[in-house]
Amino acid sequence: MKALILVGGFGTRLRPLTLTLPKPLVEFGNKRMILHQIEALAEAGVTDIVLAVNYRPEVMEKYLAEYEERFNVKITFSIESEPLGTAGPLKLAEEILGKDENPFFVLNSDVICDYPFADLAAFHKAHGDEGTIVVTKVEEPSKYGVVVHKPNHASRIDRFVEKPVEFVGNRINAGIYILNPSVLKRIDLRPTSIEQETFPAICADGQLHSFDLEGFWMDVGQPKDFLSGTCLYLSHLSKNNPKLLTPPNTPYVHGGNVMIDPSAKIGRNCKIGPNVTIGPDVIVGDGVRLQRCVLLSGSKVKDHAWVKSTIVGWNSTVGKWARLENVSVLGDDVTIGDEIYINGGSILPHKSIKANVEVPSIIM
Ligand code: GDD
Ligand code: MG
Repeated sequence: MKALILVGGFGTRLRPLTLTLPKPLVEFGNKRMILHQIEALAEAGVTDIVLAVNYRPEVMEKYLAEYEERFNVKITFSIESEPLGTAGPLKLAEEILGKDENPFFVLNSDVICDYPFADLAAFHKAHGDEGTIVVTKVEEPSKYGVVVHKPNHASRIDRFVEKPVEFVGNRINAGIYILNPSVLKRIDLRPTSIEQETFPAICADGQLHSFDLEGFWMDVGQPKDFLSGTCLYLSHLSKNNPKLLTPPNTPYVHGGNVMIDPSAKIGRNCKIGPNVTIGPDVIVGDGVRLQRCVLLSGSKVKDHAWVKSTIVGWNSTVGKWARLENVSVLGDDVTIGDEIYINGGSILPHKSIKANVEVPSIIM
């Protein structure tokens, strides 16, 4: 089978992390975002993966060559000379996606869930129409694309409304589709939106269905959601794959759902958790308190620091007795001085912070 991952876009909402690496290469749950997707696609029998990019493919190529070998898949970069939106890239990759009559998967690169590819393909085949969208229920549907069903029909979609201003329903587009190659005929090679143009057209012909997602889902394309998504993912693992988590009876683990890379070093008398991921080569000092946070590889948290609701970027250092909270994000190689307080600070790479950040702000 075939799949296309929509990777383009500058990931501006996940800055300052995306100033250093493209969004799909940022580690989520100690694993690069795109690897979660490639792994699940390969497991469902996908052998051809197209990455639709318009930004820094050279950084990605290195990692993806490794994944090609590891999962025995062929990964092709489809490079746009101008951003083609969410539908144009499908047309650009028509040669691969349309090479046979079998349907193909499409994924937004920033959605995390227990990807239901095999069940989705079976469901799509059973109804026989042109397209199927994975949907999930959320409380705040206005940030997403919302589906409205035909009266008395459980799966056939009547209307697709992207970012509705008025409430039309709470079942939203999870950013995962399976489409027949015939859909490619509906798309022109120009910047165009699958949500605004292609889906409404398929709906009008009664050819678009929804597939309900089981379990957790999150678009982790911005820091607040990245942290919430981490909580959901760790809680999912605690039920389905607890071996990936640090045993909850470890003396410093507090409240469970903690993932620590084996190469990380943890000091004495720390209290870690719940909802913490600690990446490779991280050094945590003595008496450190960590909760609801992500420490990316090579970062360092010194003695007695208190870190909550924060993403600590690669190779950054948090000083002794520092206090970080309220969705703070440190870019690559940031230094936070001893005893500094950061409240919702977004700190650009290579900065050294010597004064408190009392109100949420971007420090450049
Ligand atoms: N190749 C390419 N070219 N990819 C693009 C482009 C482009 O010009 N523009 C956006 N993308 C990619 C993004 O990188 C992302 O993976 C995906 O398309 C969706 O774009 P976002 O910018 O993340 O959209 P969104 O989160 O506001 O909304 C989308 O996702 C929601 C679910 O998270 C929509 O599909 C909504 O309907 C959906 O509910
Ligand atoms: Mg998104």
